[in-house]
Amino acid sequence: MSRILITGATSGLGLASARKLAELGHDVVLHGRNEARLAEVLEELTRAGHAVSGEVADLADLDQVEALAERVAAGGLDVLMNNAGGYQPRRKSTVQGHEWSFGVNYLAPVLLTRRLIPTLQEADAGRVIMVASRTHKEGRLDLKNIKRTEGRYHGYGAYADSKLAGLLFTRELAERLGGGPPAVHAVEPGIVSTGFGQDEPGFFQRLYNVGRFIMRSPEKGARGQIELADGPARLGQSGSYWVDGKVKTPSKRARDPKMAANLWAYTCAVLGLDLWVD
Ligand SMILES: NC(=O)c1ccc[n+]([C@@H]2O[C@H](COP(=O)([O-])OP(=O)(O)OC[C@H]3O[C@@H](n4cnc5c(N)ncnc54)[C@H](OP(=O)(O)O)[C@@H]3O)[C@@H](O)[C@H]2O)c1
Repeated sequence: MSRILITGATSGLGLASARKLAELGHDVVLHGRNEARLAEVLEELTRAGHAVSGEVADLADLDQVEALAERVAAGGLDVLMNNAGGYQPRRKSTVQGHEWSFGVNYLAPVLLTRRLIPTLQEADAGRVIMVASRTHKEGRLDLKNIKRTEGRYHGYGAYADSKLAGLLFTRELAERLGGGPPAVHAVEPGIVSTGFGQDEPGFFQRLYNVGRFIMRSPEKGARGQIELADGPARLGQSGSYWVDGKVKTPSKRARDPKMAANLWAYTCAVLGLDLWVD
């Protein structure tokens, strides 16, 4: 059985994944930013007889990401599921001054992954799972204005950029790791009825109000990420983009090697990581 860290396990796809993977007998480490909510979820799973533990960290603060990685690495890790994510309808920055979506949805999981790679390499079948989104197709990723200080702020555009960055990272990291281990996979859950973007009025709240009856349940949406965590590592398919159990081709921009190289250089510079996987 594997030790699995799931970020954003307090609701939606992360919670559905935690419930199922704990039920399958895995040692699940649930991450959340809200301590009270995390405690409720841990109590539910512990009462059901599952071996679970919890970690609190706000991914909008890279110092908290560093500390989270250190605590998790101490216990060993087989699977890192970078699931947490969010959307901001209004301009907002992370503690270190990055645009919020780019910081939380991209820089935080990249840093967490980097710090946990040595631990994942010690595992028998280590893997990294990045929860992706079809909105990456609308991402542009203008690195010159990635903090979105110029022009009008569009929350949807910022979210799409962060998801495009996640896919470029998935492919680039898989390549730099020479196919693994760890294997690196991106998985798209479909359009799922979760708490995503529901805190404030904005695009995702409007989408939910109109479409919630035809959206997937979190349990169905999470099947892909559960399967990638529970099944074989699929080393030969590292770097893939999974949709409904099949490998799909992401957008042209998500496959653009120049864009991937520029993003990698920018990421290393802002995170202070020097050519961190040769
Ligand atoms: N729902 C969809 O249709 C859909 C489609 C494609 C991709 N996705 C992706 O699926 C992933 C999970 O989203 P979901 O739909 O399950 O949404 P959700 O129900 O809102 O869950 C998001 C999780 O991320 C956590 N999170 C958000 N910001 C955080 C931060 N700054 N620090 C730490 N944790 C933070 C949330 O914590 P709190 O409980 O404290 O808010 C929550 O646990 C995201 O990466 C999203 O982009 C979702």
